Amino acid sequence: MFGLQAMAETLRPVFGSEEEIATRLGVAARHRWLLHRWLGVLRENGWLIGEGKESRLEAAADPARADLTQVCADLGYRPELAHFFDQANRHAGRLLADRILPQELLFPDGDFLTADAAYRDNLINRYLNTAARELVAWAVDRCHDRKPVRILELGAGIGGTTTDVLPALESSPVDYHFTDVSRFFLDAARNQFAALPWMRYGIIDLNNDLAAQPDYDIILAANVLHNAHHIGTSLRQLHRMLRPGGVLIFLESCREHYQSLTSMHFLMSPRPGAPLPGTTDVRAGTRRIFAHEHEWLEQLTHAGFELVAVLPESWYPLHVLGQRVFASVRV
Ligand SMILES: C[S@@+](CC[C@H](N)C(=O)[O-])C[C@H]1O[C@@H](n2cnc3c(N)ncnc32)[C@H](O)[C@@H]1O
Repeated sequence: MFGLQAMAETLRPVFGSEEEIATRLGVAARHRWLLHRWLGVLRENGWLIGEGKESRLEAAADPARADLTQVCADLGYRPELAHFFDQANRHAGRLLADRILPQELLFPDGDFLTADAAYRDNLINRYLNTAARELVAWAVDRCHDRKPVRILELGAGIGGTTTDVLPALESSPVDYHFTDVSRFFLDAARNQFAALPWMRYGIIDLNNDLAAQPDYDIILAANVLHNAHHIGTSLRQLHRMLRPGGVLIFLESCREHYQSLTSMHFLMSPRPGAPLPGTTDVRAGTRRIFAHEHEWLEQLTHAGFELVAVLPESWYPLHVLGQRVFASVRV
């Protein structure tokens, strides 16, 4: 509701055709897909009605913005995240025009508190990271003949999942390759994990660098695989990088929330000139960044993986949030 409200409020003063809105707001080319998605979800929800010159935005219900903090708290999120969502909603037009970057809002003054609230310190991520830790422990156990066990983490970012899986690595010597596409996170991680001599750091872009990687026993990827230009291609590359019997564990959102479309999704717009993830894979034609659970399962099978677990299961209350951890074995 808050996200829909923000879309409507941003677009109402400049409303017209999609082209006219884009021109009036100065929407950056790399965010045009988001404008298109906004118009789509506004229409699906009955806030945008009529066709062509007859189309108009309905006056929407006021969801009382002051409650955003309460809604976040009810869902187990810290106030920093509510503040981030609120700022993103208020600045949605400037975000669309690239006059403000989403990173400026998510990492205010370069600190990780807000990102930690989004990716680690909340109900669902505590569940997912705990599940990831148990799955990593299981995978390490399978590799008892490997000394050290070679682990690659892709898109490790602020190290939220890394931190939570560390207890699973105490029983066996490991070689842990902490990687991200951005140097910003690697510098922070070097400080954060300075006490761990077996932690190595490096830049890996999952869209460009996978073909050149060596073999691993375990690959971990928390909330990053949706950035793949082509999910099927990336999963096949990860399959090739794992030794037979090796384990791929990844976390993904399988459902798009409207609040994310006016905030987190700006982080997923491609760099100028790069393609939008998913335009030629199972997401083609949808402008969805997050693949559905069944799409991940199909793609894993096509890439040659055997599914071990997908959590939480459907009976579990947090299932409804749409975030999952997948574990599968290279057969
Ligand atoms: C949503 S954050 C996940 C953070 C982290 N996994 C955690 O749990 O704290 C996504 C991360 O993926 C990285 N990323 C984005 N595109 C990438 C790509 N093409 N290759 C590798 N990493 C990428 C971002 O820099 C960011 O750190």
